[in-house]
Amino acid sequence: MTRDEWLRASGIERADALVLLRELAGVSRAALLAHPEAELDAARLEALERAAEALRGGLPLAYVLGWREFYGLRLELNRHVLIPRPDTELLVEFALRRIDPRHAAEVLDLGTGSGAIAIAIAHERPLARVHGADLSAEALELARRNAERLLAPERPGGAARWHLGDWMQALAPGAGDFDLIVSNPPYVAEADPHLAALRHEPALALVGARACADGLGDIRVLVAQAAPRLRAGAWLALEHGYDQAAAVRALLQGAGLLEVHSLRDLAGIERVTAGRAGQ
Ligand SMILES: C[S@@+](CC[C@H](N)C(=O)[O-])C[C@H]1O[C@@H](n2cnc3c(N)ncnc32)[C@H](O)[C@@H]1O
Repeated sequence: MTRDEWLRASGIERADALVLLRELAGVSRAALLAHPEAELDAARLEALERAAEALRGGLPLAYVLGWREFYGLRLELNRHVLIPRPDTELLVEFALRRIDPRHAAEVLDLGTGSGAIAIAIAHERPLARVHGADLSAEALELARRNAERLLAPERPGGAARWHLGDWMQALAPGAGDFDLIVSNPPYVAEADPHLAALRHEPALALVGARACADGLGDIRVLVAQAAPRLRAGAWLALEHGYDQAAAVRALLQGAGLLEVHSLRDLAGIERVTAGRAGQ
């Protein structure tokens, strides 16, 4: 079968088919245009067919490929972790604005999954001492692998540190406090109709282990545990659902944080809320 024949017969979105041709058969768009009639060998054809079948079955492209780009970094992915979303870059940008690049800030990413947020911060702020925590051992294993591949071994802040456990309990007793705590926690309500479309991603990442009607079960626990672990003047910033900003602001205020405010994404929706510990 030729490249062009496969493209037309694949039964998937043309954009996805072009990505598969590039990633699995090494055929760039330019090569396709130049030689659409070139034959695909049996091994490449089989790899393409397997991937197209998975896509036709509804598996997201990021899981089919085993990677997704986030903040300019190619993160390895598997079914134990959420596919990092472009929306979450808003949280990374907030974090980067709050970390002085000249200081060795102590930064924690709670519910790190693939390590997306922690690794993006560590990559952009070489002096920062970055920690990631998660309740999933499989997620942490992947985050560690991503960090080893993506972060310079000689970065001054050292290798990222990974902690297994339930929110702040993942940290060893006596571990110090933080200059910044960020999280994109599970926040989908247990009966949310969108869950059907997200069925390939882990429930632990979407609704969490504290499933509840408003989706805020984990955020309540996380805020209560994390706020006391902020150094004077340090920020806690959370991503949340499109309709949860007011509730999250109330939780941060209730935990005694100051300057509580929400940030809007490009669509004008409040998706990140932050508050600061007093001096
Ligand atoms: C929405 S995903 C975010 C993943 C990643 N930070 C990102 O933005 O792509 C939430 C993450 O929180 C983790 N998680 C769920 N419940 C947790 C808990 N009680 N303690 C720590 N991590 C938890 C999940 O395993 C998952 O990796």
